[in-house]
Amino acid sequence: MARVLIAGATGAVGQEVLRLALADSQVERVVAPTRRALSPHPRLENPLVDYASLSGSEPWWEVDAVICTLGTTIGKAGSQEAFRRVDRDYPLAVARHALMHGARSYALNSSVGADAGSKTFYLRTKGEVERDLDALGYCSYTIVRPSVIWGERQEVRLGESLAIFALTALRPVVPRRYRVVPAVRIAKALLDRALAGVPGRKVLESEQL
Ligand SMILES: NC(=O)c1ccc[n+]([C@@H]2O[C@H](COP(=O)([O-])OP(=O)(O)OC[C@H]3O[C@@H](n4cnc5c(N)ncnc54)[C@H](OP(=O)(O)O)[C@@H]3O)[C@@H](O)[C@H]2O)c1
Repeated sequence: MARVLIAGATGAVGQEVLRLALADSQVERVVAPTRRALSPHPRLENPLVDYASLSGSEPWWEVDAVICTLGTTIGKAGSQEAFRRVDRDYPLAVARHALMHGARSYALNSSVGADAGSKTFYLRTKGEVERDLDALGYCSYTIVRPSVIWGERQEVRLGESLAIFALTALRPVVPRRYRVVPAVRIAKALLDRALAGVPGRKVLESEQL
């Protein structure tokens, strides 16, 4: 039986991870730190936190596995710096605190094309967080790199909706790596890998989801 921490449980992928984890008999307890409250569940601990000032001293950091689906857009964050805080600094802070409390596996929701050497700021940031998490020394580390995600959202993202429409219409001719991926498929891959805790680093590209 495992204790699983989900960072980003209110998001399109995170809410699917949460749903699957709460239904999974291998999961004893789910810890989901969020900035807005989740629906209560007997096996869910939902600390309300400010990710900018995580203390790392709370007992709920004692988990076996971490799944991170945190993320924002540069538009929503307001600047590249603010985007970087959410997509790089927060996943790293969560990783460090949980590792200090004995976590053994970490599964990251990254992005297709993530590359620390990329000229594109978004892909470079994703590559940097992948690289910096690797250096922390988790026993088991999984990177999932989805293409455009289709899932439940409270907000409308015009660019993303257009991309989903176009990629769905053109699906037969779109290379598998760039096809739209349902959030639940990403969530399942993240949870399966986090729970399996297979030693070493594993990258799952979008076409493998
Ligand atoms: N959308 C795509 O097509 C796509 C494609 C490839 C990769 N990705 C990546 O996949 C990951 C998951 O994507 P998603 O679509 O599930 O994301 P999402 O729906 O936007 O959810 C993001 C999560 O991060 C949290 N978050 C954002 N800013 C925060 C802040 N300042 N403080 C605390 N929490 C914050 C959100 O919390 P709140 O609910 O409180 O805002 C939410 O739980 C992200 O890293 C994203 O970059 C996305």
